[in-house]
Amino acid sequence: MARAILPLLFLAPLSFAGSQVVPEAIASQYNLPTSTALPFPSATLSSSSAQSLLVSNWSLSKGHIQDGPQNLDFTTDPFPDKAAPVAPGTSSTSGPVLRISYPEGSFSHDTGGAQFYSLWNTTDGSSFRTMMVSYEIAFDSGFDWVKGGKLPGLRGGLNSTGCSGGNQATGLDCFSSRLMWRKGGAGEIYAYIPTPNKLCGEKSVVCNSDFGVSFDRGSFTFISGQITLVVQLNNPPNVANGHFAIYFNDVLAAQETNLQIRAADTVAANGFYFSTFFGGSDTSWATPVDAHTYFRNIRLWGSSDPSNTAGKLAVNNAVHSPAYSHATLLTSLAIIVSSYMFFH
Ligand SMILES: *[C@@H]1O[C@H](CO)[C@@H](O)[C@H](O)[C@H]1NC(C)=O
Ligand SMILES: *[C@@H]1O[C@H](CO)[C@@H](O)[C@H](O)[C@H]1NC(C)=O
Ligand SMILES: *[C@@H]1O[C@H](CO)[C@@H](O)[C@H](O)[C@H]1NC(C)=O
Repeated sequence: MARAILPLLFLAPLSFAGSQVVPEAIASQYNLPTSTALPFPSATLSSSSAQSLLVSNWSLSKGHIQDGPQNLDFTTDPFPDKAAPVAPGTSSTSGPVLRISYPEGSFSHDTGGAQFYSLWNTTDGSSFRTMMVSYEIAFDSGFDWVKGGKLPGLRGGLNSTGCSGGNQATGLDCFSSRLMWRKGGAGEIYAYIPTPNKLCGEKSVVCNSDFGVSFDRGSFTFISGQITLVVQLNNPPNVANGHFAIYFNDVLAAQETNLQIRAADTVAANGFYFSTFFGGSDTSWATPVDAHTYFRNIRLWGSSDPSNTAGKLAVNNAVHSPAYSHATLLTSLAIIVSSYMFFH
């Protein structure tokens, strides 16, 4: 008993004044007992050495960097003094940072930025069903947001190409939950998950034509700082009681409940989905200049426990694009009417 209470006593002073809450305290709130940090090098590394480090030490899915390996390197921290709030007792980061390059004119289609899936497994063979990632991010000064772009989050399932890039989520083999910046740096959670129970009709939700679902657009605005994303899987898989929460600079920016993130028990939270690029899939999203982001202090927390809150049964009563489903309905009605007339 004493052991269970002790960590809470230690963590209590970590909650800052007001509504600020550091990642350690969020992890405690969600009962996430296991944590890890992605190892950074102690000296700067060229792109090719950075690629070797990621391949050997970041547990990459299929052992490779999916997109843009040439766009990442470890560089001297351009903003060493701009520390995001650091929990007392944890070391502040002073070493090299992961730099991502987005060449002028790049957008989606592996033209700029980078993408890889860093798997994280429990040591006892069980699966993570709640996962949290926290990282610090900095943007070049004067960063031009254009129309939007992707930023890292979490992924589930071992199909590393499904549930992203226009591949609709069925919930049966994967999910993804990244962040996006939009015009002016407006922030949102951007996920590929099933959309039952008229999810697309909710005020805080935009279902996009590429099957990505935008949550809480504009609930925070990106500046350099610390991001913490929590994903708690629904359970059982046919009940929509899953949960997303996003903290920006230690303040809760948005949370979504009543989600069906998976539709099969075999889908777990499998790791960090590093995915960043401008876009959007056409040139209107392209960056007008060479741009960069910088990442440091990437940490993960997890638990094998999924959500245990009450939730509605997931009912697929809404097709992803409402306009499309009306058209289909009218067509089939017309067919019924004409065959009726034919037989009478
Ligand atoms: C991976 O980590 C080990 C242990 O910290 C280190 O010795 C090794 O140099 C790293 N690999 C690369 C390619 O940097
Ligand atoms: C983690 O688990 C997956 C799926 O079982 C496996 O492919 C991968 O190699 C494991 N990674 C590590 C570092 O154990
Ligand atoms: C992974 O997802 C892609 C895209 O949805 C799909 O085409 C492919 O068949 C899936 N792979 C497996 C092994 O299920």
